[in-house]
Amino acid sequence: IKNGPCINRKYVQTIVDFIRERISILPTVGIVCGSGFGKIASRMKNAQVLKYEDIPNFPRSTVVGHPGNLVFGEFGGKMVVVMQGRFHMYEGYERQQIAIPIRVMKLLGVEILLLTNAAGGLNRSLKVGDLVCIKDHISFPGMSLNNVLAGPNDEDFGERFIAISDAYDSTLRSIFKKVVAEMNFSDVVKEGVYAHVGGPNYESPAECRMLLMIGADVVGMSTAPEVLVARHAGIRVFALSLVTNVSVLDQESKEKASHEEVLRATEARVDDVEKLFEEMISRL
Ligand code: HPA
Repeated sequence: IKNGPCINRKYVQTIVDFIRERISILPTVGIVCGSGFGKIASRMKNAQVLKYEDIPNFPRSTVVGHPGNLVFGEFGGKMVVVMQGRFHMYEGYERQQIAIPIRVMKLLGVEILLLTNAAGGLNRSLKVGDLVCIKDHISFPGMSLNNVLAGPNDEDFGERFIAISDAYDSTLRSIFKKVVAEMNFSDVVKEGVYAHVGGPNYESPAECRMLLMIGADVVGMSTAPEVLVARHAGIRVFALSLVTNVSVLDQESKEKASHEEVLRATEARVDDVEKLFEEMISRL
């Protein structure tokens, strides 16, 4: 196992000091935007923006649909920080670098983290446009020592060994479900298990059949590492997948996943997610 950079308290504090000198907002809620979800920040009030590239020691976004800004502002009556653009291990980051933004949020005062992602729908009841509230995950990188928490542990953030049986906060899921029902989105919202794969290729049909067999409902290339870092640091977590494509289980099928399809499906649903999150945050 390679050590990579140690994202310890001192490393993160230099970033936090830089932000504090420029941004007056003290966020208590963080949002991580998946592919095409950057627009979630559009209804924030008094927004202040920092580009990732202007923040020393901060990683840069390389994926189309991931703009690369930290946006601070008021959303749902709370002070919020939004990550427009996330980092994935397939981009070539050392796995520990995925921890940076989440640890920055922790030191900025974030207590609750909402994450979004685009995902393939494995469960045959899922359609493009459905939202899946994540209740648990299966992380292949996480189980195979490509775990974001592997390497030296900084006790300032959390313990070496952490339980993740309750990683996806049941109270936050209940609040979300209530909001969904009241806002009449019940027919497009489900709950399920997220399979985290390394990517960057979409899964083969045989891989999809395996994922379905072991109990996954949706599959994607993100979220689980950020959830682990957040839980390690005691941040409460809520995560939502948007089904942007139906996973292909049959190699004779003419259907094919593509990033364009993913971005199109996200574009069609991002305003709904923004409204649901705004209402959810107002109830936290
Ligand atoms: N697989 C993995 N990641 C994804 C998918 C998928 O089918 N769709 C969007 N992100």
